[in-house]
Amino acid sequence: MRWRDDRLELIDQRRLPLEFEYVACVDAAQTAAAIRDMVVRGAPAIGCTAAFGVAVEAQRHAGAARMQFDAALHEAFRLLAASRPTAVNLFWAIERMRRCHAQTSGLSSREAAQALLNLAKQMHAEDIEINRAIGRHGAPLIADGASVMTHCNAGALATAGYGTALGVIRAARDAGKRISVIANETRPYLQGARLTAWEMVQEGIPVTLVTDNMAGHLMQQGRVDVIVVGADRIAANGDTANKIGTYTVAVLAQRHRIPFYVAAPLSTIDTAVADGNGIPIEERDAAEVTGFRGMRWAPDGVSVANPAFDVTPAALITGIITELGLVAQPDVAKIRALLER
Ligand code: MRU
Repeated sequence: MRWRDDRLELIDQRRLPLEFEYVACVDAAQTAAAIRDMVVRGAPAIGCTAAFGVAVEAQRHAGAARMQFDAALHEAFRLLAASRPTAVNLFWAIERMRRCHAQTSGLSSREAAQALLNLAKQMHAEDIEINRAIGRHGAPLIADGASVMTHCNAGALATAGYGTALGVIRAARDAGKRISVIANETRPYLQGARLTAWEMVQEGIPVTLVTDNMAGHLMQQGRVDVIVVGADRIAANGDTANKIGTYTVAVLAQRHRIPFYVAAPLSTIDTAVADGNGIPIEERDAAEVTGFRGMRWAPDGVSVANPAFDVTPAALITGIITELGLVAQPDVAKIRALLER
């Protein structure tokens, strides 16, 4: 994402990898729609996008009376918070912007708009630094020559840049290790096939694309050394919501004694939720399952379930890699200690 000429521009991830195109958002409603419609996706990326969505709305009303400015911003917060339910980074980012807005109450609309834009830019820059730190902490966990499986896309596209899970892979490669990646396709939205595969090809990191149902076979054959995935929300006890299918991969990893790591920033940890049962799971449109881009393969009249995320219990997670370091075998006490550091 980038800030250009007083507007937010997002790579249209719906069109990747066939087309590389930016979509402009000139107000909060457009930004919320871009998040909802998957122009941009990935937990940290939607957090940063929401921050810029607030900033772009503030710019629009910078010349208005303060009461109108405040009313427009309250509506922006509401619209953005309603865009997607699972990734807590969205709400974390909106909360930071809300606090900044509250602190500007004595300023003019223009000054307040500038403060909000500055914060959005700061959050964007911070996210890249955080991902690099996650990479530094995660790289030592990846052995030279390792075959690393990942699920969905937790890369540069899913963040402000660099990536969480793919950041670990990038950092390991940059440390001189020969790494190859197995990208699970990630049905139904194909973030693995379209986005992770694209990022790895761009980077020149060897990548093998497989469909999700091949993961167990590859593990059984000894072709997976380690698994690294991202996260959308981590509960206080370490239970982790990530893209649908992650739980299946974690169960298979345990069966085959393959280390299973979650790479995520602290902003993905939600201590207000005690365990995975409290994490809201987004249910998406049936059309994502019955077909793809206008092509339909399922019969009319079939009923469809399309949960976009699942929860991997903490007991299946070898470690959570954060910007502050690794939390091995995560539990409530270790996560609390991490956040109190
Ligand atoms: O539905 P998506 O594409 O937004 O889901 C994305 C994921 O599940 C990612 O793994 C997660 O957000 C981490 S991104 C660094």
